[in-house]
Parts: sequence; C-alpha cells; structure tokens
Amino acid sequence: MASDHPVEYDVGHVEELFSRGRAVVPVGPDELPVLVVKTRRGLFAVTNRCPHRGASLDDAEVSRSTITCALHEYRFDLRSGRVTGGWGTRPTCDPLVVHRVRLADGRLVVALARSRADSPRA
Ligand code: FES
Repeated sequence: MASDHPVEYDVGHVEELFSRGRAVVPVGPDELPVLVVKTRRGLFAVTNRCPHRGASLDDAEVSRSTITCALHEYRFDLRSGRVTGGWGTRPTCDPLVVHRVRLADGRLVVALARSRADSPRA
C-alpha cells in the first residue's frame, strides 16, 4: 500500500552544498536535478528546469522569493512556482515544480513533489 507521506531524501550537509549560496543536487532514485537556494525568505527547492523552454536554472538570479531564468528572464515565485513576469505583458508557461525542503541537524532534506499539484504551496 502506498504511503501518502512523501519520501524525504537527505541530500547533504548544508555548508558543503551552499559554498555558492545555491546547490544543484540529484534527488531520489531517478536523480532528479533539484536546485536548492537560500534567501532571506528561507530555503527553496525547485526542479532545475525552467518550464518555459527547459533551460537549466543554475545561473538564474535569485532574490527574496523570486527566481529569474537567465535565458529569457521569466520570473517565478519560489514559494508557489507561478510565473510572475517575463517577456510580454502577460507571460505564460507552466509553473516551476516546487519541492519541500528543510534542515535537519545541519543537513538538507528534500521531499520531491510528484507533480506540480504536489508543490507545497500550489
Ligand atoms: S527558458 Fe527560462 S525563461 Fe525561457
């Protein structure tokens, strides 16, 4: 019987991972690339793939709770994954997939959202 609780993955020690203020870590059995960032608003984890055209978010600008993709400058809310700005007056694309992340004894623990609907603040 499947559990309703998401599986959590220990992805490493926070200080080692955050030498750049962000980290891309492979998470879960499929080694999904997840970008974990720390801002003044807290810790956030998202799939490291922009939903607009699939660019990596390694070099995305991060400020407070917003991430801006470096390729076409779409902006996303790190809490909900929703697009909040970009090209045109009403940029549209799917939301970022947001995962749960927490600290436990100095280590980062990520629970993967199985879909966008599982994002913690969707
Ligand atoms: S690929 Fe990210 S905004 Fe276009």
